[in-house]
Order: sequence, then structure tokens, then C-alpha cells
Amino acid sequence: MHLLITAGPTREPLDPVRYLTNRSSGKMGYALAEAALAEGHEVTLISGPVTLPEPAGVQLVSVETARQMFEAVQAHLSSAQVAIFAAAVADYRPAITSTQKIKKQSETLTLELERTEDILGSARSLFGFRGYLVGFAAETEKLIEHAQDKLARKGCDLVVANDVSQPGIGFDSSENAVTLCLPGGETHVLPQQSKAALAAEILRFVTHRLI
Ligand code: PMT
Repeated sequence: MHLLITAGPTREPLDPVRYLTNRSSGKMGYALAEAALAEGHEVTLISGPVTLPEPAGVQLVSVETARQMFEAVQAHLSSAQVAIFAAAVADYRPAITSTQKIKKQSETLTLELERTEDILGSARSLFGFRGYLVGFAAETEKLIEHAQDKLARKGCDLVVANDVSQPGIGFDSSENAVTLCLPGGETHVLPQQSKAALAAEILRFVTHRLI
């Protein structure tokens, strides 16, 4: 099977030395890639900037911005049977990127932001992806409600709901705990464990759904 997996944060430049980003380390997405490779699958890993080693045998596509991740997914999605979107993509980027370093001029500085491309939301509607589509939902409140909403709006087969308000799991930790949300309101809780063990469980769940 061929899987496309997105991982890590994006960086949205403000000027040549500054950018907007988030706390994603890429560990969850890379663990999913490692788990899929261990099962003998082919993996295209589209990764934002992280400090993790490249998994052996992966086809790695390194990107920086949400627009670059969107273009990389568009270019590689058609050959995948399963797509898993674990990346923490910026929802907004600076409307203007200064070509020169922004100088300190006034006491306050207001930034205008514009929406980035919705990559997961484009998988079905724009890219025509017909394979098994897995989104993540990183939430700090109403976890299942928001995850079920994403599942329906973005045409996912599965949304991995991640409560990122809990200490010790989620962004940049080595462990995670999630709830798998499926159409029809079905849910499965995967308790706190290493991201490697959790990734293997998620992958087992997906492959069982496909056979
Ligand atoms: O990288 P780690 O440090 O290991 O942390 C793991 C994680 C917390 C980042 C991961 O488990 C996780 O929850 N990833 C999703 C983070 C996120 O941005 O969630 P969201 O609810 O904002 O986005 C919903 C879905 O849409 C996600 O599948 C996301 O990849 C996708 N998305 C979001 C915005 C956008 N412009 N395009 C997208 O495709």
C-alpha cells in the first residue's frame, strides 16, 4: 500500500528573519511513517521543518510553508491509497511578507493575516482523492464535537481527535492519547502511550478498515 503522510509545523515568513509557526515537532507524523514502513508499505512523507532524522526508506518531501505543503500534497496524492494529515498547518499567514527586515518604528505593530490553503479540505473537493482519508483534529475544548464536524465537512473516513490542552501529550511530547472518530458517531479511545505505539495502533485500525 502507498501512504501519503503530512507531518510537522509550517513556517509563514514575515520578513527574511521572522516567521509564524506552532509547537509541532513532527513526532506524531514521523511515528506514523515509521509504523507504515515497518509494515512494508510505501510512504511519501511531506514534512514541515523538524529536527527529526529521515525515516529509512521513506520518500521525503521537505517543505516550509502551508502553500508549499499544499502543492506537495497536490503533486503526490493521486498515487496514494491512504492519506494521513498529521501536520499542524498554519491557518493564517502574513498578508504581506516584507523583503527587508521589519524595523522597530512604533510602540505597537499590527499584522494583517490571510487564510492559508486548507489542504485536508481540498483532498476530496479539489484533488479528487478517492482513497482512505485521515485527518487530525487538535482541539483545546469540545474535542469530539469539533472532530466530528471536521470529519463531515472535509469528507474524512477517520479523524484522530487530539486533546492538546492536556499536559504530557500532543504537541512536542513523546507520548500521545487520542480518540478515533468515525462516521455515524462511532468513537474509539486510544489511551496515553508512546507516539510510536499509538502510530502502530492507528495504522492497524486503518488497514483493518481497508481489508
Ligand atoms: O508534531 P507533534 O509535536 O508530534 O504533535 C502532534 C500533533 C499535536 C501536531 C498532531 O497529533 C495533530 O493533532 N495534528 C493536527 C494539528 C492541527 O493543525 O490540527 P487542526 O485541527 O488545526 O487541523 C485539522 C486538520 O486539517 C489536520 O489534519 C491538519 O493537518 C489539516 N489542515 C489544517 C490547516 C490547513 N490549512 N490545512 C490542513 O490540511
